[in-house]
Amino acid sequence: MMLRLPDPKNARRWCAEQRAAGRTIGFVPTMGALHPGHMELLRRARAENDVSCVSIFVNPLQFNDPKDLASYPRDSEKDARMLEEAGCDMIFTGTLEQFFPEVESLEQIVKRHPGPGAEGVEGAARPGHFAGVATICERLFKVVGPTRAYFGEKDFQQTLVIKDLTRALGYPEIVVCPTVREPSGLAWSSRNYLLSEADRVQAACLSRGLFAARATWRTGERDPARLRKVLLQELQVEGVEPEYAEVRDPEAWRPDPPNGPMTRAQALVAARVGRVRLIDTLRLDTND
Ligand code: PAF
Repeated sequence: MMLRLPDPKNARRWCAEQRAAGRTIGFVPTMGALHPGHMELLRRARAENDVSCVSIFVNPLQFNDPKDLASYPRDSEKDARMLEEAGCDMIFTGTLEQFFPEVESLEQIVKRHPGPGAEGVEGAARPGHFAGVATICERLFKVVGPTRAYFGEKDFQQTLVIKDLTRALGYPEIVVCPTVREPSGLAWSSRNYLLSEADRVQAACLSRGLFAARATWRTGERDPARLRKVLLQELQVEGVEPEYAEVRDPEAWRPDPPNGPMTRAQALVAARVGRVRLIDTLRLDTND
């Protein structure tokens, strides 16, 4: 039986009990509207730990656009069913008031500085977004304590921000799992539930662009501007306007390319398809 805890205080107690009994916890933080990418995170969390838990909380602090928050897909009963069938041990949720009991009004919540990983790309496109992610993740990590937490590579820059955060907190251990894609190549995201059939066909150009850039990298191309152009060509074919497209060194994480030829490269893209904003990413110099 999966335990459903609507109050983070009780979830904290459950996690403390698990640790006291010597059990490791695999934690998957989510905003619900679960999809195969989330289920893969849970599969890994279960395989690598004694017990698993998933948080479901649509965090208002990380939405820079109120319309985006209002239209974010939500289906908590379906989510709970999927998690129970997949063998999750505990799910928890909460309200902003429960996650931040020390403030009298929500305007008083002090957002965390998200660290250098938040600079540029998605951080520049969505001001305040990563501060909101870091702020809630700190609270979620306080609920689960020192454990392993599982994140998808699709939100690559988020994983940089989370790693900055866990370096500061000293826990948990972060496990980044490969992006799960639909058969068309489209990366799974909760936002895919908002796409029409026609949007879905168009949206596949994002991953086509990324894989074209990887194929070009493999021919020996190391110029980020030319790799970016290859990516963008696939979007142009579908008439999809990019919000950004960048090729960066994933470890140095600086906008300017290194002095010598690139040895590591992460391509990142964001675009609106229909009414839906999508992001995707691919490491060019590995098969991951
Ligand atoms: O990736 C997400 O779903 C969210 O950004 C997270 C990590 C659950 C924080 O709200």
